[in-house]
Formats: sequence, structure tokens, C-alpha cells
Amino acid sequence: MPDKFYLTTPIYYVNARPHIGHTYTTIVADAIARRQRSLGIDTWFLTGTDEHGQKIERSAESAGCTPQEFADKVSAEFRALWDRMGLTYNDFIRTTEPRHQRAVQNLFALLRDRGFIYKGSYTGQYCVFDELYVEAPPGAPCPDCGRPTETVSEENYFFKLSAFERPLLEYYTAHPEFIRPETRRNEVIAFVKSGLRDLSVSRTSFNWGIPVPGDEKHVIYVWLDALANYITALGWGSDDDAKYRKFWPADLHLVGKEIIRFHCVYWPAFLMAAGLPLPHSVHAHGWLLFEESKMSKSRGNIVRAETILEGFGALKPDASKAEQDLFGADALRYFLMREVVFGQDGSFSFDALVQRYNSDLANGYGNLVSRTLSMIGRYFDGVVPYPASSGSVVQAHSFAVEIPRAIASFAASFDAFDFSRALETVWALVAAVDGYLTANAPWKQLEGTTDEQQQALRADILYTAAEAIRIVTALVYPVIPDAAGRVWTQLGLGDIRTADLKNLHWRGLNPGTKLGELSPLFPRADKETITRMSELEQKNTPPAPAAPELKNQKSAPQEPRISKLHSLVDGLAVAMAESTTETSVVVGLENAIAETVRETVGSRKEPRDAAQKAAAPPAARPAARGPEEATTLPGAPALPAAPATGTVVAPAAPPASASDKISIDDFAKVELRVGQIKVAERVPKADKLLRLEVDLGTETRQILAGIAEAYTPESLIGRKVVIVANLAPRKLRGLESNGMIVAASLEGGRPVLAGFLEEVPVGARLK
Ligand code: MSP
Repeated sequence: MPDKFYLTTPIYYVNARPHIGHTYTTIVADAIARRQRSLGIDTWFLTGTDEHGQKIERSAESAGCTPQEFADKVSAEFRALWDRMGLTYNDFIRTTEPRHQRAVQNLFALLRDRGFIYKGSYTGQYCVFDELYVEAPPGAPCPDCGRPTETVSEENYFFKLSAFERPLLEYYTAHPEFIRPETRRNEVIAFVKSGLRDLSVSRTSFNWGIPVPGDEKHVIYVWLDALANYITALGWGSDDDAKYRKFWPADLHLVGKEIIRFHCVYWPAFLMAAGLPLPHSVHAHGWLLFEESKMSKSRGNIVRAETILEGFGALKPDASKAEQDLFGADALRYFLMREVVFGQDGSFSFDALVQRYNSDLANGYGNLVSRTLSMIGRYFDGVVPYPASSGSVVQAHSFAVEIPRAIASFAASFDAFDFSRALETVWALVAAVDGYLTANAPWKQLEGTTDEQQQALRADILYTAAEAIRIVTALVYPVIPDAAGRVWTQLGLGDIRTADLKNLHWRGLNPGTKLGELSPLFPRADKETITRMSELEQKNTPPAPAAPELKNQKSAPQEPRISKLHSLVDGLAVAMAESTTETSVVVGLENAIAETVRETVGSRKEPRDAAQKAAAPPAARPAARGPEEATTLPGAPALPAAPATGTVVAPAAPPASASDKISIDDFAKVELRVGQIKVAERVPKADKLLRLEVDLGTETRQILAGIAEAYTPESLIGRKVVIVANLAPRKLRGLESNGMIVAASLEGGRPVLAGFLEEVPVGARLK
């Protein structure tokens, strides 16, 4: 087992206040750090803020303060939020700290001394918002964000990135775990293979940065400055580099997918050039979407974690502010790690948050703990009873087998960063224990048993449930540390932070343990919680800045028609699934859908899509900076526009005219995901209908599909299909269908399932 673990989050820009996108990465890092520590591994968890650059200089100017004052304020907000949420970072680095600035200058000097930095010049257009050199004629808007560009003509220092094409490719091959997940790895490899150009690593047109040593009119390029934080925070380049020697190389850089190439191309190239070891792994996660697009300040669609802390905190009016915050933080942590498949984009909404909280925490885990512990209170005076060894209780002995399996399966999923599956495993256990209590009803006096026999049975049942709760609690501690800590104390086991959680054995709970004081864990949330959070968010969020003309324009809402469309498509699926449905009914529905689509799009004028990325970049230009930057790096070939995918069963239509288009927002309302069929069987008395169980990555859904005439159940097992995941459930032949499979509908009504030619992960979203 490794004896140390060093993990980092990106350091966040201080031009915007933290929102739950930033919180997401930091929460995941915290959960990983807590698990590593609970396994006895010496762990160092670094986060911080990225404070230099032209964008921040200008934000400060508009706020009427110095860049340093501006950075101090926003950086403190990040740190205060992490503290409110109880995040256990070991160090918080700021790029304006002297310890960082000195070491970055040392790194720059080292790269120059080793012959990897030289002087050159550049003239071209620059987009300050994106901190990006763009290929556009003078006066033209930024091809990425549509904002005006500025002409810059500068003498710059350049880093010989081109020299690292081959070494990087060799490194990726020799260390397949360096870039994860696989899709990102492929993307980075393709990018490097397409050719690397030298990179400008200094600027002279503004001052807010770290001066180039020996040539102070230049400031060091912000990405070189920022990436170096991962070693400067450990003391590299200073007199005291003990931490660097102990913890470097990093075991894990956690990043959002938009900055994977900075971390997997520039960063390893800088390190190679400096002769320093490379990190073991860079893992990119997906974006948190709100209202179906990436949560970000400039889109004005952010949700702040503070809103959730306050919204949930109100469920515990008698608790202190600090307790309320930790309680709310757990609700958010659980939601993000359970609901979002790590690596893929995931949607956030207050409704979904409250629903997940109620079903899994209040009704699931919380309810199980409270019913078990209160029965131990009632029947055993609050002392964990001695279990009988007769094995007479239904199912009791099967936990001895199931629980070690669940522990192993949780560990395997969690350590592979498949957090949602890890939690699914634990919650299956919660449900099993709950079912066990209900089946054995320890509160009932069984006919023909003496009081003494009944008490022995109860002892067995309640010991089993309490022991299962202990194990569940130890497993979920990294994800919901505050709640787990409270359950641990209620179990009479003291402070979970000092407990040995790495040796979890069935029957490790000592009978005779006196329970702690019992108190409610997860009060139920209701509509009011949702309303409160929505109102708080509106109150606290300043209106979104005016969107640039070419970007992010939203068309007027078309809710009634869109929902009509949803219900018609839904109805069509039901009709086609029913073997008894008349063809005329199906055709009628198809026509109604076509008509509604025409009504919906006819009244709508789409803004020009601004996603035309920068064309071939100038040689040696710096990369995009900023939360909304292009996802292509300089030198990347322009990507062709992605074709639309995932057509819901619908008749072939004539080619659409220009006005017969729906907006991207409409399309984004349909949540299409990759699912894998696990179970397929015929539905009695329905010739066309199959009952499927489909794995969506985060959960398994029952879906009824009218495809029995085209596919045998056996041929479908293991097949990856496209699922419409956000359809309201409906009943067919008395069975609930939760989602819809996407298929082409051929002449004569024969469906052909949509699929993939390349490997795709289960749960991946289609966009
Ligand atoms: N300062 C750079 C990173 C330098 S690291 C050497 C930066 N900062 S940022 O403030 O824009 O933060 C980006 C990171 O915040 C993302 O990579 C991701 O970790 C997190 N997120 C910000 N918005 C997010 C979402 N909407 N969804 C998920 N994560 C997001 O880039």
C-alpha cells in the first residue's frame, strides 16, 4: 500500500465568487482525501486561488480597487466557504503569496537556463475575456465569445513546447493511468499528435503578474504561474522543500474537463523541461449543468453552495449556525457524488437535490438508523444487545456474506472514482437491512413464543441491524462526514475521525456498547425548502451581465408547446408499444408531433451559433484562459460541428427548412443517456412489449419498449442503447416504465435501436 497520497484541485480564479461548480471539485477532492486518511495513508490535500492575469486586473479596475485588494476579497470568500463546509484541505495556496511568486521565478529561470525558453515576437488579435490569442483580422470580434478583440504586438518569451511532442506521446503510452478517463486521454493524444507549437510564456502589455526574473517589464504567462502552484505549495524552489520531497509527485490532479490539456500537455512539458518528476494521474470530471448549460458566472446560471447550506440549515432551526452548515454541506455532497456519474456532465436542480435527500437520507439511511436505535433504546435500555447464535432469524446469517461483499464492492467502485455506483451499493444494503427489520418485525410478539424467546430474537435482529448500520456509516463517512460522525456517536462509538475504519469486519460492534444520545438526523425537506433556496439564489445572485451578441442568447420560452411535444412523443411511444393500437392512432400522433414542432419553431428565431472556434492559431500563442474559454487549445485543429444524435422514434420527415429548427435549448431539455440492458423479458399478453432493466450508470431503470417483434430478449442482454432518461414515468400493462429507448422507425413500423460504433461508458450523456 502506498504510504502517501497528494491530491490537488485546480486553483480557482478570483474574478468570480465560488459557485457549486467549484464546490463540486473541492467536495470530491475532500471525499477522496478523507477516504485515503481513513485507510491510514499520509494524505496532503491542496487547493487555492489563481489570482494573476489581465482579466483579474480589469475586474479590479471596474470594482474600483487594486488587483491585490480584489484578489484578497474573493480568495477569502473561497476559503471561508470551504471552512464553512468543513472541507479538510491541508494547504490553501494563493498565487500572489511571496512563497509562490519566488518559486515561479525560480522555475522560469530554470527553464531558461536549461534552454527551453527563448525570446521571440508576436503580433495579432487578443481576447481579454478568454485570455486568448485569436486568429482574426484587426477589429474583428473574438470567434469564441463574440467580444471585441484587441491588437497586440509584443516581444515575448516562448517555451519550446514543440520539442515535447514525442516525449509526451511516449509518456502517455508508458503511463496509461496518467490521463483519466479514457475519453480525455484519447482527446489529449489526438491533440498532441496534431502538432505542438511553441508557447508564449510572458506578456508586456499589463503588469498584474509575476515579473520575469532579470527582465521585469515582462510578466510570466498566467498558466505557467498557475500550474506551478502544485509544486510551489510544497516548498519546491524554496529553502524548505521537505514537503516537496515527501509528497511530490502528485498522485492525483483533479480538474474539470475544460482544463485537461493544460494539465496533460503544458504541465508535464514544463516539468520534463525542468527535469522534475511528473504527476501520477490527472483526472477530469464533467461539468455541473444548471438549466441545461454549464454553470458559469458569465451565463448568469450559477447556484451558490451558501444557498444550499442556508436552505437545508433551516431544517434544523435549533442547531448552531456551524452545525447547520455542516448538515447542508452533507446534503450537497451526497447529491453531487450520488447523482453525477464522475467524469460526465450532470444536472443540478433544487428539486432533484431535495428529492435525493428525502429518498436516500431522510427516508433511507436516516430512518433506518432512527428506527433501529430507538428500538434498542426501548427494548434494551439503550445498550447494544448480545446476538443469539442460533441463526434462527430470517436472513440474519446472510448479512455475514453480503456485508463483506458490499465492503469490497464499495471500495472497488470508490477507488475507481465511480462514486455513484459505490453509493448505490451501500444504499442497496440500507434497503436490505430495512427490509430485514420489516420482515422480522422485532416490535411484535410472535405467537407461541415466551417473552424470553422473543427478547432473544429481538437481540439478534437489532444487533444485526445496528452492526450493518455501523458498517454503512464507516463506508459513507468520506461522503457525508458530518452525518456519519453523528451516527457514530449515537452508536456509542465516539469520534469517527479517530476510529479505525480500514479494518471493517462483520460483528465488529461490541455487544454491551452503550448508545449515545439519540437525535433526529435528516428532517424531511419539502416544497418550502425548494422555494426557499430558489428565492435565496435569486436574492443573492446579481443579474447576469449582458450577454455578448454572439454568445449564449436564449430564445423566448416555449414551455407549453414543449411540454405538449413531450406528452405527444410519450403517447406515441405508448401507442407503438401496445400491440392493440390501431395504425391510424399512431399516424395521428405522428402528425400531431410534426404539427407541434412546426408551431414551436415557426415563431422562434435562433441566434447565430457562436461556437465557431478560433481558426488555426498563430504560432506560439498562449492558450485560452478563463472559465468560458475555448475547449480547443492553440494549435488544435478546428473541430467539425457535431452532428445531432439520438432521434426519438419518429417517422421519417422531409428535410427541414431553415425555419423548421429547434434551438439547442429545446434539444438540451431531452436528457439522452447511454444505458446497458441487463435484463430483457417478454410482457405477458403484449406481443410488442419487452420489459427491460437498463443500467444508467447511477441507477437501474425498468423500461418497457415496443420492440418485441424486432428483437428477442436474449439478443438484447448487454447491449448499449440510447435512453431518454428524463421522461415522466408511465404505466403500461400495469408496469411502470421509467424512460424510453431511442430507435429508428422503419417502414412497416419495425424499430431499429440506436447504438454506437465505438466504446462508450454507461451513463454518458448524448449532446
Ligand atoms: N484558474 C484556472 C485553473 C488553474 S489550475 C492550475 C481555472 N479556474 S476556474 O475558476 O475557472 O475553475 C475551473 C475549475 O472549477 C474547473 O476545472 C472545475 O474543476 C471547477 N468548475 C467550475 N465550473 C464548473 C462547473 N460548472 N462544473 C464542474 N466544475 C466546474 O480554470
